[in-house]
Amino acid sequence: MEVVICQDVEQAAERAADAITALFVAHPDAVLGVATGSSPLGIYAALGRRVADGQVSLALASAYMLDEYVGLAADHPERYRNVIEREFVARVDIDPSRVHGPDGLADDLPAACAAYEQSIAADGGIDLQILGIGTDGHIAFNEPGSSLASRTRIKTLTCQTRADNARFFGGNLDQVPTHCLTQGIGTIMDARHLLLVATGRAKAEAVHHLVEGPISAMWPATILQMHPYVTVLLDDAAASRLQLSSYFKETYDAKPAWQDL
Ligand code: GLP
Repeated sequence: MEVVICQDVEQAAERAADAITALFVAHPDAVLGVATGSSPLGIYAALGRRVADGQVSLALASAYMLDEYVGLAADHPERYRNVIEREFVARVDIDPSRVHGPDGLADDLPAACAAYEQSIAADGGIDLQILGIGTDGHIAFNEPGSSLASRTRIKTLTCQTRADNARFFGGNLDQVPTHCLTQGIGTIMDARHLLLVATGRAKAEAVHHLVEGPISAMWPATILQMHPYVTVLLDDAAASRLQLSSYFKETYDAKPAWQDL
């Protein structure tokens, strides 16, 4: 796990965009895992600028979403499919037909989850997965107590996550769905490169557990310690509870120029 403490949110987004740009320059048909929440928004904006000025193209890319609310109407602005269309697809040159997400409106939700797993596998797996982290340490919607080997499935959201996400629903907790479909932790761990972005003091406790805590289903993101290729991009506030923050800064400053993220 490489921990990079950035000057600010913008620098974290640019560094993430650097890694994604390098992937698609080398492999134009790579598979990108996209996340919702506010943390990745700067990455999508940075990617949009790079596509616009010709540094990179996602024309041959495929993308897979991490998760989706169950039961939000097809035209609901907070349906994750619509968020990804608005924040990612509309900014880059990806073919919208190659952007996939779990179907939270399916009649048979377990079948939709199984089909989603098959689709990821048929595309050769995810090359780079963008991740945020919840204040309770969830990744995608894998809430505390999730099996660390789980696959895409239906989950019940915790009150804390619904309260955190109520800001996207006019502050009205009752409007936040109670259920979701989410890639499992095992699904996420299959991606070749995991790139997690966390900024702000509200994430400091979850980041502390992620980087320095014991691996536990109580803080699901801690399983990332077992992945061979994880990049954690933080600002000072999100890194404020790390015992090793000085070491992480020294390590990054001393990194050879030829070594990318
Ligand atoms: C939601 C998403 C997660 C995301 C988390 C944090 O729960 N399902 O993928 O990481 O929110 O969101 P934010 O980046 O807005 O703090």
